[in-house]
Amino acid sequence: MPDSMPALPATPDEATRQTRIRLTINDTPHDLSIAPRRTLLEVLREDLSLTGAKPGCEMGNCGACTVLLDGEAVYSCLVLAIECPGHTITTIEGLTRDGQLHPIQDTFVQYDALQCGFCTPGQVLALKSLLDRNPHPTDDEIDRGMAGNICRCGAYPKIRAAARALARQQP
Ligand code: FES
Ligand code: FES
Repeated sequence: MPDSMPALPATPDEATRQTRIRLTINDTPHDLSIAPRRTLLEVLREDLSLTGAKPGCEMGNCGACTVLLDGEAVYSCLVLAIECPGHTITTIEGLTRDGQLHPIQDTFVQYDALQCGFCTPGQVLALKSLLDRNPHPTDDEIDRGMAGNICRCGAYPKIRAAARALARQQP
């Protein structure tokens, strides 16, 4: 996860200045004109209606805003959108193909690995990043890989069970 700090309040000039950028999100390019200080989370949700990434703490503590940046799980509340041109961004909306859930999503459903679901997009993407790096994680590696994503309603045992099941299915 990036360790950059949340942005400081904008000056009047910064608040009105716009920068043109192209973001590639879920394999689709988007040309945008944005204030340079806006976070990737804000742009995803407010400009592109990609609301799967959730605003939780917006301080880099909870993981509800997790997306993949070049395959790595990042807190989109701590990433400025202007840092992202040239990188591949994947949100939870990008995992579903032709109306079919991704196997990680299917397995979360099968294992009932959620309660309220607010953290679930971030949990799914954090697990995808983990399994893409390490297809056969141990329980410790699962716990460490998912440690940046908090589930306040306590679905951790089922999330770990889903992760174990997915690890067993990997070639
Ligand atoms: S909303 Fe980004 S880490 Fe909590
Ligand atoms: S399922 Fe409720 S916060 Fe995670």
